[in-house]
Amino acid sequence: MAAPPRYAAIEVRDRFGLDALALAARPLPAPGPRQALVRLTAAALNYRDLMMVEGRYNPRQPLPLVPCSDGVGEVAAAGEGCRFAVGARVLPAFAQGWLDGPPARPVAQRTLGGPLDGTLAAYGLFDDEGLAAAPPHLSDAEAATLGCAALTAWSALVELGGLRAGERVLCIGTGGVSVFAAQIALLMGAEVYLCSRSESKLAALAARGVRVHHALVAANGARWGREVARRSGGGVEHVVEVGGAGTLAHSLEAVAPGGTVSLIGVLAGGVAGAGGAAEALSLTSVLMRQVRVQGVLVGHRAGLERMLRAFTLAALRPVVDAHLPVADAADARAAFARLAAGAHVGKLTLDLTPLHATLPKGAS
Ligand SMILES: NC(=O)c1ccc[n+]([C@@H]2O[C@H](COP(=O)([O-])OP(=O)(O)OC[C@H]3O[C@@H](n4cnc5c(N)ncnc54)[C@H](OP(=O)(O)O)[C@@H]3O)[C@@H](O)[C@H]2O)c1
Repeated sequence: MAAPPRYAAIEVRDRFGLDALALAARPLPAPGPRQALVRLTAAALNYRDLMMVEGRYNPRQPLPLVPCSDGVGEVAAAGEGCRFAVGARVLPAFAQGWLDGPPARPVAQRTLGGPLDGTLAAYGLFDDEGLAAAPPHLSDAEAATLGCAALTAWSALVELGGLRAGERVLCIGTGGVSVFAAQIALLMGAEVYLCSRSESKLAALAARGVRVHHALVAANGARWGREVARRSGGGVEHVVEVGGAGTLAHSLEAVAPGGTVSLIGVLAGGVAGAGGAAEALSLTSVLMRQVRVQGVLVGHRAGLERMLRAFTLAALRPVVDAHLPVADAADARAAFARLAAGAHVGKLTLDLTPLHATLPKGAS
């Protein structure tokens, strides 16, 4: 009897750590009713994926796990009643099954790249409700970036933040979420402030066509939040906060009375009071100035589809710093190490097409 067909996947095998990434051969599943087997061609790297691989995101995550939170591909086989036909270019939603509304408890139990297997693989099996059509004007590398980083920025500013033209937005840094936030804010007619610790990254971003109104260098020890408040004549209406405990005090200085700070990331620490600028956090100013602190968890499919329509209508293109080919675990390790080094502007993406030629050699 012929051996069942297999596909290549990169998995965190039996312990956490970049050196625990291994090439696996998995049996190719057949889609059931309202499911699609997707031939994945690209994935994007998110900071969360790095934390997941290193065991910092959820140390209790069962292994093995295929990492990565978003990607793109083509429907290779469609189950009965599937809303996508074979050949359709689709991208999976990060939170599978979260269609609209507030995040009910099970949302976090069905996210890609942990606890569900993610997109660092040649194929993925998805319920059709967890897929959206990829914008036709984008390359695979560009489309792969939309399901997590772009949707997070969109949810913060548009779905939850209710951003209006003419309002002011502060973005922190030049990474994936922040660059999308700047692009979306510009698209919506907002005045955009962007603080980066690197002058050369600000220049690189402008050279890629993302021209914010105010680019500021956030030098170590500088009160950059206060500077944003000064320049904006009293503060900005929206802050897209990716730093967490280490930058929140600056964000609270930058935000206008009645404004919103979207709490998204923990790059500079996840526990307030654990050090750095968080020591100086003034909660009194939050209530006295009626500041809204809004937690954001990526977003639902309805928001994703609205964002995809907006990107398509505006022909908006994500900023892809590099598209890195992945044929084996060593390539995946190198890509994650590049994300960890933090020299990128916008997104690092993974070309998964070499994975399709990888089996059977080297896989177990
Ligand atoms: N809540 C959610 O749904 C959600 C979704 C996606 C991401 N996130 C989180 O959002 C954060 C950003 O993710 P990402 O994928 O955009 O990361 P990324 O692409 O690695 O970008 C991070 C950028 O932030 C800046 N940065 C790094 N460390 C910093 C620090 N200590 N203080 C100030 N700025 C710093 C850097 O910009 P400069 O070098 O230009 O300063 C860096 O390029 C992460 O914590 C991630 O886990 C949350």
